[in-house]
Amino acid sequence: MAKEVKTIGVLTSGGDAPGMNAAVRAVVRTALSHGMRVIGIERGYNGLLNGETYEMNLRSVSEIIHRGGTVLYTARCLEFKTEEGQKKGAEMCKKLGIDALVVIGGDGSFRGAKALANLGIPCIGIPGTIDNDIACSEYTIGYDTAMNTAVEMVDKLRDTTQSHDRCSVVEVMGRNAGYIALNVGIATGAIATLIPERPYDLERDILDRMQFTQKTGKKHFIVIVAEGVGHAQDLANEIQARTGIDSRATVLGHVQRGGSPSLRDRVTASRMGYQAVILLEKGIFNRVVAVSADKIVDYDINVALSMHKSIDTTLLDVAETISI
Ligand code: ADP
Ligand code: F6P
Repeated sequence: MAKEVKTIGVLTSGGDAPGMNAAVRAVVRTALSHGMRVIGIERGYNGLLNGETYEMNLRSVSEIIHRGGTVLYTARCLEFKTEEGQKKGAEMCKKLGIDALVVIGGDGSFRGAKALANLGIPCIGIPGTIDNDIACSEYTIGYDTAMNTAVEMVDKLRDTTQSHDRCSVVEVMGRNAGYIALNVGIATGAIATLIPERPYDLERDILDRMQFTQKTGKKHFIVIVAEGVGHAQDLANEIQARTGIDSRATVLGHVQRGGSPSLRDRVTASRMGYQAVILLEKGIFNRVVAVSADKIVDYDINVALSMHKSIDTTLLDVAETISI
């Protein structure tokens, strides 16, 4: 029989994402409502190793559902990638009386959770990253807010791009994943959208399209590039040199990681945080909570980490057909 979970630890790890606070709030309040104690761990696995922890109560998570960032802070912890660091983490959990841990973060954070699970600390992962690059989940906390922030910024750029008959090359986040770029490209009517998942051809995918639309009267252009593809400034220079169209580069950067979470992020985070605790309460351990067809589901952590998801490139066809 699975051991009874009386005390839950909760941490946020890796890059922050709007909605992480709503997930922490849901974990804390669901756990308390089931008579469990909750230990908040600050700064991800760093805080676990250093014992940066505090007992959380109902009011520890007041006034945070609408706030971006994470009240638990977050960090990247190199030591935790080592066997020694992981053993120390498991020992710290035992010392602190933590029976199970909820880890809110991305794939890397889940690998840390898997290591702890192998050392006898039950874990549940909650997907929190703006990149939407967790294979087992159709949706990750922070993704919606980040895309809406990017769209708002590109709308502002469009005004000045249009006034000057220019081309704006906008770099959005996503080192290995083009989810943000692809959706923002469609939502802002970009003439071209470049994503890491699909190699591009400068002539075919950008210059020819610009020249064709120029002939139909178009005078200003938005190009969206995911950061994993290359630098916006290099691309803007190239476009200007090849077309003569005055071009500017804008890197949206970390602005996409902040701000008040959207309704979708708040609700998804709340549902996921709730489900994480329900699983622990039922003695179901070492799972990653996920979204599938708008339902909250869960997968074994090893299975979750071995899954792959591919980007829906028909969205590129939509963009290429309509943004012309
Ligand atoms: P994300 O969780 O967003 O993917 P990272 O890849 O930076 O972000 O991982 C966050 C943290 O998770 C790392 O700083 C490290 O502490 C831990 N981590 C990452 N990969 C591993 C691994 N293979 N084994 C153990 N811990 C890991
Ligand atoms: O994983 C989220 C993310 O924002 C990526 O889109 C980006 O490449 C990376 O984190 C940036 O990380 P850092 O916070 O270390 O600059």
